Amino acid sequence: MTDEIAIEFAEVTKRYGTAVAVDNISFSIAKGEMVTFLGPSGCGKTTSLRLIAGLELPTTGVVRIAGRDVSQRAASERNVGMVFQSYALFPHMNVLENVAYGPVIRGEAKATARARAHEILEQIGLAGLSARLPSELSGGQQQRVAVARAIVQQPDVLLFDEPLSNVDAKLRRKVRGEIRDLQKRFGLTAVYVTHDQEEALAVSDRIVVMQAGRIAQIGSPRDLYERPASPFVADFIGDANLISGQVSGGRFRAADLDLPMQGNEGAAQISLRPERIALSPGSGSPSGKVLSCTYLGSRWEYEIETGFAELLASRPMTEPPIAPGTDVSLTIPDNAPIRVA
Ligand SMILES: Nc1ncnc2c1ncn2[C@@H]1O[C@H](COP(=O)(O)OP(=O)(O)O)[C@@H](O)[C@H]1O
Ligand SMILES: [Mg+2]
Repeated sequence: MTDEIAIEFAEVTKRYGTAVAVDNISFSIAKGEMVTFLGPSGCGKTTSLRLIAGLELPTTGVVRIAGRDVSQRAASERNVGMVFQSYALFPHMNVLENVAYGPVIRGEAKATARARAHEILEQIGLAGLSARLPSELSGGQQQRVAVARAIVQQPDVLLFDEPLSNVDAKLRRKVRGEIRDLQKRFGLTAVYVTHDQEEALAVSDRIVVMQAGRIAQIGSPRDLYERPASPFVADFIGDANLISGQVSGGRFRAADLDLPMQGNEGAAQISLRPERIALSPGSGSPSGKVLSCTYLGSRWEYEIETGFAELLASRPMTEPPIAPGTDVSLTIPDNAPIRVA
């Protein structure tokens, strides 16, 4: 990754009639960076990606790729590669022909295009499959061929729109790892769209969280998880208990919850991650009652009734379970609550 900017949106809005799909967003992506657009269905992820590709033009605002204003340029005038959820490989061409196709169409000599396609397939570890038809490949292999086909064009930017939707659930972890490896190995600038927060955390240098056409927050996976800027982000990235209360004299209070808290006095909201709440049977403050205890294989998950909220708490498998109906006291480390409003 360098500091050179590969993609820049300056106050970009996209309207369809009166509907606003993308609402005045600005951000920049560095060369060699992998950035994910994450958010619920309809928040504007695909539209943002299509604005980068040139498949949509902004209603207002400026899109720059590699320093060039491409706002009103068609897709064919931008050097952008795209990998779709349906791999869109040509079924009657073998792997090598599929990868060499783009350069040939662009006017490269067939032999040169094939040599370059072969080289990339070799680097990706697919050279042994060159003669196979797409139908003779697994979903994950087809996805890698689709990536090879995009890389051979040496795009300024590589775009992925929910590329794992058609990959078997068990293979997704593997394929997303392969995509991330290729992106790093080739130093590609990549923009990735998903609605799956775990996938976003796993593959991204930075994540753009979108909400109703706007950017809710931009940050590294850790930034977003540990320092969410709003209740929406706290809730969307991982599980969060959102608790409303009052801040005064450097303390946050809600019923018998009393925690140190900096910042403005008055009404406030905190996010508390389930894994940061320790439970012990007996009385204490803050207090709660176990409503349910669920075995989740890797951990116990509890619902706890308290005077300030119904909490979700998750505890390691190594702790003995606490039965529903048991009174518990809660222990919350001083640095666990994050103020989100
Ligand atoms: N071609 C279109 N015409 C009208 N509305 C559209 C069009 N494309 C997208 N939208 C609307 O814009 C919003 C954002 O859509 P989209 O970018 O596809 O969201 P996402 O990919 O996050 O699910 C949605 O409300 C969607 O209905
Ligand atoms: Mg979409």
